[in-house]
Amino acid sequence: MPLNNTTIVSAAQTKFGKLEGISQREMFAEAVDKATVEAGIPKKDIQAAFVGTFIPEMLIHQGHIAPLLLDYAGLRGLPATRHEAACASGATALRAGIMAIESGFYDTVLVAGAEKMTSVSTNAVTEALAAAADDEFESSMGLTFPGVFAIAAVAHMRRYGTTEEDMALVAVKAHKNASTNPLAQFQKEITLEKALTPRYVAWPLKLFDCSPISDGAAAIVLTSKEKAREYTDLPIDVIGTGQASASMNLSDRSDLTSFEASVSASKAAYKMAGLGPEDMDLAVVHDCFTIAELIASEDIGFFKPGEAAKAVRDGVTALDGDKPINPMGGLKAVGHPVGATGVKQAVVLYKELLGEAGPNQVAKHNTGIMHNFGGTGASCVVNIFRRSDA
Ligand code: COA
Repeated sequence: MPLNNTTIVSAAQTKFGKLEGISQREMFAEAVDKATVEAGIPKKDIQAAFVGTFIPEMLIHQGHIAPLLLDYAGLRGLPATRHEAACASGATALRAGIMAIESGFYDTVLVAGAEKMTSVSTNAVTEALAAAADDEFESSMGLTFPGVFAIAAVAHMRRYGTTEEDMALVAVKAHKNASTNPLAQFQKEITLEKALTPRYVAWPLKLFDCSPISDGAAAIVLTSKEKAREYTDLPIDVIGTGQASASMNLSDRSDLTSFEASVSASKAAYKMAGLGPEDMDLAVVHDCFTIAELIASEDIGFFKPGEAAKAVRDGVTALDGDKPINPMGGLKAVGHPVGATGVKQAVVLYKELLGEAGPNQVAKHNTGIMHNFGGTGASCVVNIFRRSDA
């Protein structure tokens, strides 16, 4: 059944990057202020908050973080629940918010995500992130996330002939789009030659195939359709949502060239919306590594298996292409503060659909899809948004 009561009335993010001297609670409060009071939504109207964050215990030695973040954001006293699904924490929080509005339980809720990653060393972040893999079979043997996605890249290269250059082209596109996004960690274009610089992190993935280590926060306000009229003439409707899980352990998967939870979650979201990939004007997908964007764009049905690389080469996924993907620069160049990412993806899709993406605006913007996954794709959430006047 299609969703028919959930709508987004405001969305905002902080700058992503190495935000020295700014704590997780400060970033969170900044994003919340931008999405509420600065957008004309009084904080007193918010009835509950759903918070995405992955590993604050390991990165900033802080557990039980949802009430703390809410308190600093001036929302003390509200029901505050943390959602954790590795890099999909943000979108699982969003899905909980969607269900809370759709069910009629609340009519105005906040969904926000944040992560402070740069306060510890790259080695410490890498070890902490590895908690999103299966510890008994993977992380304790030394497998880290660049390694996990390198395995997927090799499988894709072997089966479909995808090349290191194809992946580098995804990075070139991401940095080009991010060059005009003032909130991006990297606002500089890179050449194909630079993207191919052989600084291997885990062969065949090089520095520019990886999303960076980042700090940042994002927030959105969801309301019922009736309540939305108090805040805006043009809410963006949430018309489909899907979530799925898969085995944590990669060795239990039958196919490493596709993430089955992405396929299931997107099928569920399309079914709920009564639409298909052909109806989507753009996609915001989880490009934690360049190969992840290629696989995600196949898994959500934009391209047949093995055909995403050609689409990138032909400019189909560019900002001015027929199927723009990650028009603001994606995780790769905007940054990937893990718990914030899924909410930030919703912010990007919201702005694009409203037509408020400035130099990063895509031409057709009635309906779009966002795809956020966690770990090795063991959790995936896909949402479909549409302009309320479409
Ligand atoms: N893309 C492009 N440039 C990057 C980058 C990235 N991913 N990461 C760092 N840089 C740049 C820095 O800005 C810096 O540039 P400068 O010398 O001009 O200032 C330079 O590379 C070195 O940065 P540094 O922070 O020392 O890099 P690092 O070696 O410590 O970390 C990675 C690089 C790739 C190992 C790290 O970004 C990483 O682990 N990324 C993956 C994170 C991840 O797994 N996320 C979860 C996904 S599921």
